[in-house]
Amino acid sequence: MNKYSIGKFNLDCLAQEYGTPLYVMNGNAIIKRANAFNKAKQWQNLKVIFAYANKAFCSLATTKLLNKQGFYFDVVSSGEIAVILEAGVEPSKIIFHGNNKTEQEIKYALEKKIGYFVVDNYSEYARINKFAKIKQNIIVRINPCIRAETHSAVQTANWDSKFGFTMSQETLDVISEIAKNNNFEGIHIHIGSQIFGVKSYLEAIDKIIPFIKQIINEGININILDLGGGFGIRYTENDPNIDDETISNNLSKILEYLNKSLTKEKIKVKTVIFEPGRSLVANAGCTVYKVGDIKKYGDKKTYIVVDGGMYESPRFALYGSKYTVSAVNNYSDKKTNKVTIVGKCCESGDIIAEDVMIQNVEIGDYIVVESTGAYNFSMASNYNNNLVQPVVLVIDDKKEIIVKGQNINDLISRNVVPEWL
Ligand code: LLP
Repeated sequence: MNKYSIGKFNLDCLAQEYGTPLYVMNGNAIIKRANAFNKAKQWQNLKVIFAYANKAFCSLATTKLLNKQGFYFDVVSSGEIAVILEAGVEPSKIIFHGNNKTEQEIKYALEKKIGYFVVDNYSEYARINKFAKIKQNIIVRINPCIRAETHSAVQTANWDSKFGFTMSQETLDVISEIAKNNNFEGIHIHIGSQIFGVKSYLEAIDKIIPFIKQIINEGININILDLGGGFGIRYTENDPNIDDETISNNLSKILEYLNKSLTKEKIKVKTVIFEPGRSLVANAGCTVYKVGDIKKYGDKKTYIVVDGGMYESPRFALYGSKYTVSAVNNYSDKKTNKVTIVGKCCESGDIIAEDVMIQNVEIGDYIVVESTGAYNFSMASNYNNNLVQPVVLVIDDKKEIIVKGQNINDLISRNVVPEWL
């Protein structure tokens, strides 16, 4: 068939049924990718846990789906904890990240008996300690000082990063204190996001091993080494081809290197955690738009204006991100037109994809932006009081809205007009 389809459904039909813009998630693709991760669940004597970084895309339905695949969940707010619990996940499978957990969030997490707190700084630890009535499982975030090869906004382990503890005597003292008063489980690093290959991960392992040795020399055990997320995905044909096999191979390379380094240094770690977000859901999602206008400046520039924009597709505005764009109905035709896809927000930075190739399209046609499953819906806003569109999930021959689109009342209902006005 000539039309762009997901499973049994072509996007044309989905767009007509649910309206545009529309986020579509391919559940089969998420399951397939989850299986690729799960292949590495046991690595020689290391147990490997995969915790889905919920910030990439958070919904009850996808949580349920990944829970069935045996995933743990990396969360960063009480809002995320609430969704995960509502989806029926065991609290013990929740790993609470973030660099400034508030008192309210800490109290909520304690009350819900979540599995692990990943502590970013001493003040945060003190807050947890203040409210915890029983010993908590604590993982300490360390900055390994690695400049990962990726966009600067998503590098998280440069020496001056806002995240984590330094590899210093002060931190060793904090870890000793944690080990005395709580269950010190181990350490966490997260070097960034959209990272290709394994080089930066191996470098981070090299950086962190001597510090782990120092912790052990203090007589403190390390059960868990959490290596974070960050695996890159293919957005356009200029990116490396990251398929399931690449994911499995990269995991094997990292685990093999880690295992060798640990064995060499006679360090015993029981469990390794990875926290993939983007690499689980990005390629599984796409966004469908309707073309509202085509604006040409001679043969110099062509804008395709669609019915969404930076409020629901913020990544170009934030990171200059690139996407692959196609016409839905003549999908297999050659892409002969260079265009810039823009939205309906009132600023020129409202770009969804710049200078991309696309088939012939006309006003009223549907177009699809591929691989929008991560950090689009989860970063959407109501800028210009636009309504965030629904998300539909497709699995095999089934399809259903998993997050409803907003309505006007959602926008108005939080407003309060003071009586004295
Ligand atoms: N673990 C921690 C502690 C993290 O901070 C993150 C992402 C992950 C895991 C998952 O990383 P992933 O596998 O998804 O790369 N909004 C940006 C990405 C921000 C990533 C934030 N932290 C974007 O749209 O590119």
